[in-house]
Amino acid sequence: MLRGVILPHNKMKKGLLIKNIAELITCRGQAPKFGKAMNDLGIINNGAVVTEAGIIEAVGTEEILRKFEQADYEIIDAAGKCVLPGFIDSHNHFVFGGYRAEEFSWRLRGDTYMEIMERGGGIANSVRGTREASFEELKQLAQKRLDSMLAFGVTTVEGKSGYGLDKDTELKQLRVMKELSDHPVEIVPTFLGAHAVPAEYKGRSGEYIDFIINEVLPIVAKEKLAEFCDVFCEKGVFSVEESRKLLLAAQKLDLKSKLHADEIVQLGGAELAAELGAVSADHLLQISPKGIKMLAEKKVVATLLPATAFSLKEHYAPGRELIDSGAAVALATDFNPGSCFTESIPLVIALACLYMKLTPAETVTALTINAAAAVGKADKIGSIEQNKQADIIILDHPSYLYLPYHIGMSIVETVVKKGKIVWK
Ligand code: NIG
Ligand code: FE
Repeated sequence: MLRGVILPHNKMKKGLLIKNIAELITCRGQAPKFGKAMNDLGIINNGAVVTEAGIIEAVGTEEILRKFEQADYEIIDAAGKCVLPGFIDSHNHFVFGGYRAEEFSWRLRGDTYMEIMERGGGIANSVRGTREASFEELKQLAQKRLDSMLAFGVTTVEGKSGYGLDKDTELKQLRVMKELSDHPVEIVPTFLGAHAVPAEYKGRSGEYIDFIINEVLPIVAKEKLAEFCDVFCEKGVFSVEESRKLLLAAQKLDLKSKLHADEIVQLGGAELAAELGAVSADHLLQISPKGIKMLAEKKVVATLLPATAFSLKEHYAPGRELIDSGAAVALATDFNPGSCFTESIPLVIALACLYMKLTPAETVTALTINAAAAVGKADKIGSIEQNKQADIIILDHPSYLYLPYHIGMSIVETVVKKGKIVWK
């Protein structure tokens, strides 16, 4: 069978029946796993999964199959293979126009991310490209990127706006995501209008926040274009006060909170996330000991993005300390045109194990049930258990331990979304 082929669905069958699974990783649970519990993958050896109408009908050892007439189902023999919940990439900026390959080369010669940003490059560069791109161009680009995520076993991705920084382009990015809702990779949209201060508002970040609150957020909420509101809470971008004001206004309109927090400078973004009951606080390279404690206490998911630290040649966020302090950690790519231009889940897994000292089991939890929690959907996705959406991946190796071991390579063989084989 050719790799990367999206297969026609067998409509005559009731669903899928996956049997002889060497190692079935269920990640069972309806909520994020904190601290030590992140090592509990709910493993079933010699397992089986049955799906019907896109939903998981039964999970267990091979014994469960006695109740099912196998001829009614499309059978997958997973002998010698590992089966897991589909990966969820819970922090991603895949809708943008233009590229920044030249800036990458400047960073190689020693320019910092912030220096490039201060002289009009960085996010502002991508804003120009995204404003210029037509709706159709943006959609084509985004679709191609979703295709490559699918090949890495991603069945749900969070997608942020934030390369428009004006009303029309921010809405254009969010509408592109809505248009792509028939793609096998399910999209959870986030409004990130406060990703940077646009040139038109230079030195007037407070006024720009007011503009977003008054002119853009109400449309985003009315048209249900986003489920989350995010902000780049950073020195020289948006202050803690400005971030608080925006996220509170968004909460009033039913948009849940996320933050780009404590990435470059220790500003108190994690503390703000805890105060506001944010669903996640992301990046956290510079998080304070108090911030770590507060995220754990307030059950805010700490979303770590090791490929960004790698790409920026920064030190890594304190993943081990967060988990040892009882926090729930998620991992994501942070795919974007500047600080981290990669969709690679295998790279994220390898870096998290090698440099953040996460165990292989913790990385699996961080990309499944905890990532589901980071997109507010731990009741629907992120685990293989009865009544959850049938988002499942099959590896061409017998154990999840091969995920970090086969460094930077995807070992995903088959991807199932809502009970359909969508990639092989
Ligand atoms: O998550 N930190 C801010 N935002 C992005 C980078 C965006 C860009 O450089 O285009 C991030 O790393
Ligand atoms: Fe980001």
